[in-house]
Amino acid sequence: MVTVESLIRETANKFNESSLTFGHGTDNAIDEAAYLIFGYLDLNHDEAEEAYQKSISNEDLLEIDKLIDCRINQNCPVAYLIKKAWFAGLEFFVDERVLVPRSPLAELITNKLRPWADDRLVTRALDMGTGSGCIAIALGKFFPDIEIDAIDYSSEALQVANINLEHHKMTDRINLIESDFFSNLPEYQYSNCYDLIISNPPYVDQEDISNMAPEFHHEPILGLASGKDGLESVKILLRESCKYLRDNGLLIVEVGNSRQALEEFYPTLPFIWIDFMLGGEGVFLLMKSDLEAHMEILNK
Ligand SMILES: C[S@@+](CC[C@H](N)C(=O)[O-])C[C@H]1O[C@@H](n2cnc3c(N)ncnc32)[C@H](O)[C@@H]1O
Repeated sequence: MVTVESLIRETANKFNESSLTFGHGTDNAIDEAAYLIFGYLDLNHDEAEEAYQKSISNEDLLEIDKLIDCRINQNCPVAYLIKKAWFAGLEFFVDERVLVPRSPLAELITNKLRPWADDRLVTRALDMGTGSGCIAIALGKFFPDIEIDAIDYSSEALQVANINLEHHKMTDRINLIESDFFSNLPEYQYSNCYDLIISNPPYVDQEDISNMAPEFHHEPILGLASGKDGLESVKILLRESCKYLRDNGLLIVEVGNSRQALEEFYPTLPFIWIDFMLGGEGVFLLMKSDLEAHMEILNK
């Protein structure tokens, strides 16, 4: 009899013997195998002890074998194989139209943006580059009274976001907008309207794009690449956000390992870099007043 537990072990051994990169929600072969097998069988991670002893039918074994083959021979991320990913404790549908959710912003949102903001202050937010909609939807769950606009340039990504909005019953609170950054937000209608602009924009520089593991080539390049130095998108966010933020509004942006390049480019900007307990780095916060005070530099 093949049980869930024995199949996870066997699969992890195969993963360890292959040249795989774990960077889409797990960092080791056992967790990756469990992600795939629990995901395919729709098992609950909160009831893992019971699930491990379940036996797997021959039919399911054949299907799981095909997925393992895709993971090993095509380096396909598990999230795309099982069409599921988790973010801020919530489940999202994903496929190759969107990036696999993995931003450390999840931790900040589940902590209700404390100590930087609290739910009473945040009534309207913008998620720039929403992809699967994970950040917007998590905000909607943890801030029940908030109204959210969620922008993406990719109409295909917005189709996926819409699937997730429907699944999480957020269609009346989250407004999906197809736009090249702020270009479809007329200033007369949207200026000074957001308490929060939050974004996990593309921020990978050209060198990292050329060297990235095959797993990342399954993701849409529009969600990753951001010019030679990785700063193209964040420069637009820094320059444009001020107009759209209310007084006391916050801009929160993930830039990952482009942090150093960003600090070198804007040495006088007073970035606050957020620490995370659960891992991840390269997320900064700025107040609208910080942006206003540095407009001359940002407009250069
Ligand atoms: C790093 S992904 C983040 C996706 C999602 N927010 C997440 O955290 O998983 C960046 C997203 O920005 C979108 N994007 C890229 N260029 C854009 C642009 N010019 N205007 C708006 N969105 C853009 C991409 O399509 C992608 O969905």
